[in-house]
Amino acid sequence: MTQPHVQVGIVGAGPAGLLLSHLLDLVGISSVVIEARSRAHVEGRIRAGVLEQGTVDVLRDTGVGARMDREGLLHHGTILKVAGEARRIDFQDLVGKSVMVYGQHEVVKDLVAARLAAGGEIVFEVSDTRIDGIEGDAPTLSWTQDGVQHARRCDFIAGCDGFHGVSRAAIPADVLRVYERVYPFGWLGILARTPPASEELIYAHHERGFALLSMRSPEISRLYLQCPPDEDIATWPDARIWEELQVRLAGGSGWRLEEGEIVQKGVTAMRSFVAEPMRHGRLFLAGDAAHIVPPTGAKGMNLAVGDVRVLARALESYYARGSEAALEAYSDTCLRRIWTVQRFSWWMTQMLHTFDDASPFDRRRQLAELDYVTTSRAAMTTLAENYVGLPMDWGPA
Ligand code: FAD
Ligand code: DHB
Repeated sequence: MTQPHVQVGIVGAGPAGLLLSHLLDLVGISSVVIEARSRAHVEGRIRAGVLEQGTVDVLRDTGVGARMDREGLLHHGTILKVAGEARRIDFQDLVGKSVMVYGQHEVVKDLVAARLAAGGEIVFEVSDTRIDGIEGDAPTLSWTQDGVQHARRCDFIAGCDGFHGVSRAAIPADVLRVYERVYPFGWLGILARTPPASEELIYAHHERGFALLSMRSPEISRLYLQCPPDEDIATWPDARIWEELQVRLAGGSGWRLEEGEIVQKGVTAMRSFVAEPMRHGRLFLAGDAAHIVPPTGAKGMNLAVGDVRVLARALESYYARGSEAALEAYSDTCLRRIWTVQRFSWWMTQMLHTFDDASPFDRRRQLAELDYVTTSRAAMTTLAENYVGLPMDWGPA
């Protein structure tokens, strides 16, 4: 039996897969998105919260930014706090750009709604995802849904299935090079029903560990604490979380967070990871399937957006002009930006967290770095330029 055909088979309905499907649709390229979890699950998964200016522009320019513009919170700067002393990095003044605080799950909701309204096909709750024939010119994507097996012949397959997906493993081990660094800590994150205690995000370095104040709306705060990577959340009753947040974020300044009901909590381990190349035959990896950054620079979702923007343009040039040049360049184009962002995320992480094995010299050097980066205009500009996001087309000219 001949299988139905689709131009691009997309694995994963996270930000990468959904945005790719949306961008392809805008230039008349057909796709199917298959997703292991339910629609409710992907739309409720609390993750990233900071959109770079380039990400905001892509969503806005492609017609999926209306709710973000109504409900998102535009931030023109951020606060770095060391032992209770707050210093502001003014993005607008330093680099003339801003970021948008708008939850990743809201972006996912907007993209799912846009795809379904345009007649797009998203298949939720699939199992047994298989990718075959990527070294030939007619790869197949197959899956099971409700006990029924399905398969599509594709021209290309996009692996947008995150770090734990199956796509990366479809690239032969002797082809793939992996670069990795695992950090000796994780983040305990909470979502709380309480107004954010600051109008801007606060990245706090404290001798007891890093803490971050973020938000989702004028009523909902998102807060993080550095903790051991395998921390048992059961050892953190709500009262202990608030107490630790008060100490690390206020740092003896007299200012206090208003506490509220904690509606969600969890622990995330932290790593830096890159798999190269991001293409093998007709399979293209994008987003967390190819790379992970520690969350300190707020970059993961933004990198995923950067990848699929490059991929959508490369596929458009293939279908419109028959040119494979941009597809050939896909991996190198993405990797240059990815490694620059890896460096920034690593740098923010090592600067802001505490390390159990730090020597007294390491501690003083770290404090000097924090002092410098919040005092020197040149250093603040470097931080701001990276935080608001390097140009989406950062890469070889
Ligand atoms: P994912 O969102 O992981 O999507 C992959 C999808 O593929 C999932 O829906 C998964 O269910 C599906 N899937 C997996 N396997 C299969 C399969 N076999 N078949 C079918 N489907 C499959 N990034 C930022 O930019 N800013 C931030 O502020 C930020 N903060 C973060 C805070 C936390 C606590 C965490 C955990 C992450 C944060 N990130 C942040 C990172 C960001 O969430 C990720 O980088 C982003 O989700 C990557 O998107 P993606 O589409 O590549 O992957
Ligand atoms: C959020 C997450 C981050 O990793 C970060 O650096 C800033 C904000 C957030 O979830 O709001």
